[in-house]
Amino acid sequence: MAITLKTPQEIESMRVAGRLAAEVLDYITPFVKPGVTTGELDRLCHDFMVGVQGTIPAPLNYAPPGYQPYPKSICTSVNHQVCHGIPGEKVLKGGDIVNLDITVIKDGFHGDTSRMFTVGEASIGARRLCEITHECMWIGIEQVRPGATIGDIGHAIQRHAEAAGFSIVREFCGHGIGRRFHEEPQILHYGRPGVGERLEAGMIFTIEPMVNAGRREIRELSDGWTIVTKDHSLSAQWEHTVLVTGEGFEVLTVSERMPARPPLTARAA
Ligand code: MF3
Ligand code: CO
Ligand code: CO
Repeated sequence: MAITLKTPQEIESMRVAGRLAAEVLDYITPFVKPGVTTGELDRLCHDFMVGVQGTIPAPLNYAPPGYQPYPKSICTSVNHQVCHGIPGEKVLKGGDIVNLDITVIKDGFHGDTSRMFTVGEASIGARRLCEITHECMWIGIEQVRPGATIGDIGHAIQRHAEAAGFSIVREFCGHGIGRRFHEEPQILHYGRPGVGERLEAGMIFTIEPMVNAGRREIRELSDGWTIVTKDHSLSAQWEHTVLVTGEGFEVLTVSERMPARPPLTARAA
């Protein structure tokens, strides 16, 4: 299946879905405190999506080829968990870092976004990992314009992460998104400038770098979903859903309390 260009009407539906996904993160933010379980965060998000927004939590029962159905409504990846952490009895404690990844379906369209949260006071090292990863996502987003390649995005992200002494997870990538959760193209978070498909106005995809404080290798837990760092080093991830516009990009997963875009151009120059 080739990369589809979204129609103006589809783009409008994706704006709605994207904003709703981001608003779930706004909603859950005050609950991410020491003592809360990841299962409670899942239940709160589930009830907000279904009961307040009238959205469908896309992860629930999602079963890509080779996977068992995902059992919960959000992903909660704590500390050395890279992605796809399954909410449960785990109690968050001061100093933890956690990624909450939200995907909603509204009127048949998907919005997909994730943020890092620090629980209580996190160490300087943990905060730096979260900040650099946020910058990585934004540096990737800033490459997006018609004519740029997928390799331009990956290269910019990889360079920033590695300059900080961190590593990029290779096994998972950003993805086209629309009526389906995961569509073409694959957006690698590493690569070479000028390599790969060229972006065109109307494409919609996610950029969602996973950055490890230590080595890039990962391992899957026996639950069939949770991905952890092999060396148990901390891992961070941020995700936005992005539209390629005539001039550049538009972030679709925006909300009132979304963390601000960092002042990168000053820093990267
Ligand atoms: N939200 C994840 C992504 O960004 C996918 C999670 S799949 C799930 O692509 F089944 F674990 F929810
Ligand atoms: Co995604
Ligand atoms: Co996601």
